[in-house]
Amino acid sequence: MNLYDIIEKKRHGQSNTAAEVEYVIKGFTAGDIPDYMMSAYLMAVCINGADKDETFAMCKAMMESGDTLHFDSVVVDKHSTGGVSDSTSMILVPILASMGIDILKMSGRSLGFTGGTIDKIEVFSGYQADMSEKKLLEALHKNHGVIVSQSQDLCPADKKIYALRDKTATVDSIPLIASSIMSKKLATGAKIILLDVKYGSGAFMKSAENAVKLARTMVDIGRSYDRQVMAVVTDMDSPLGSSIGAKFEVADVLDVLDGKSSDLGNLAKFFACEIAGMYYKDQGKEIKRADIEATIDTIISSGAAKEKFFDIVKFGGGDISVVENLTKTKYSLEYKAKSAGYISRLDAYSLSKIVREMTDSAQDKASVGLRLNVNIGDKVNMGDTICTLHSNDKISSAIINALDSAVVISKKKTVKQLVYKVVR
Ligand code: URA
Repeated sequence: MNLYDIIEKKRHGQSNTAAEVEYVIKGFTAGDIPDYMMSAYLMAVCINGADKDETFAMCKAMMESGDTLHFDSVVVDKHSTGGVSDSTSMILVPILASMGIDILKMSGRSLGFTGGTIDKIEVFSGYQADMSEKKLLEALHKNHGVIVSQSQDLCPADKKIYALRDKTATVDSIPLIASSIMSKKLATGAKIILLDVKYGSGAFMKSAENAVKLARTMVDIGRSYDRQVMAVVTDMDSPLGSSIGAKFEVADVLDVLDGKSSDLGNLAKFFACEIAGMYYKDQGKEIKRADIEATIDTIISSGAAKEKFFDIVKFGGGDISVVENLTKTKYSLEYKAKSAGYISRLDAYSLSKIVREMTDSAQDKASVGLRLNVNIGDKVNMGDTICTLHSNDKISSAIINALDSAVVISKKKTVKQLVYKVVR
């Protein structure tokens, strides 16, 4: 096979055969294809797309590039395409685990402007997210739930390709994202998978239409491997939770587990309910949605979910005493409303960028965070606090200008629609 011809075909918008796609993925993973040729291929896919056969072939080759896990029990999984202030995994894992449903959450770190569950769970100092297969099985047996980092032996092709995509502006492509995510989900052996496909300024997919296309592609891939998969297309124009910054987002999680109502908690509960529904169906059990919702509410109000969360953290070696001191910082700066009206925009990308820039220049990076006092649609008076920036390093007041363009107050009330569409 001739790599130059494969790239040229794709550049002209033609389809490659499954064998050609496999040749590219395998060759690059083995180190036989140099970065410059792979970059050209990825850019051609980014610009001209890939058809269903090409996308499926890409996913298969990436999945088969490393180990795959197999479980005796039915294991469930959830994956987000990446967003800002999205800590749903840390809420739904203890909820499902408390219901006796085995959930293996293999997560990543922050990438660009998006947050990562592993950075958040590591707020509990000592937590070892890198677990062996033996330890992982032990965790499932003991707690029914575990949060781990992606094993080095799973989908090495994706790791290598993703690193190149990150450097060559080839991340936001539907076939590339779909094959990257699904190769990992299939390799982890989960039988039931819920995908949270985000759209908006704080997501890779900027439009809801493209997010729906991505969702459809991933669900179809999962189905072809006989997995129960559903995708929920959700809003990521504004941060999901009230905080940005690992420690502060953990504080958000604890608020939900303490019973405080929020968009973050509502979405996590919605996901838990959908996953539990798929699980019971797989077990041949007919359980009404209202009954699952009531069980989830009891698990939270009784404190069982919080206790389970701490059990999961402690199993990984994390120190739960850190919760005493999550949001206390030496310096803070309040940003106040410049007019009265309704909050119509809290731009997820811009807010995340502000926190990232503060973190980059801070000595004590872990101390940096932002806490929102308001949500989309809230009424505010001039001078009300919109958000507070925190850091153990001095905060420059110049940051106010950046916040001015991230926050919009309008005369008309806007309603946030958390769930745009469910794709099955
Ligand atoms: N997350 C992934 O794992 N892969 C992508 O391509 C994008 C987001």
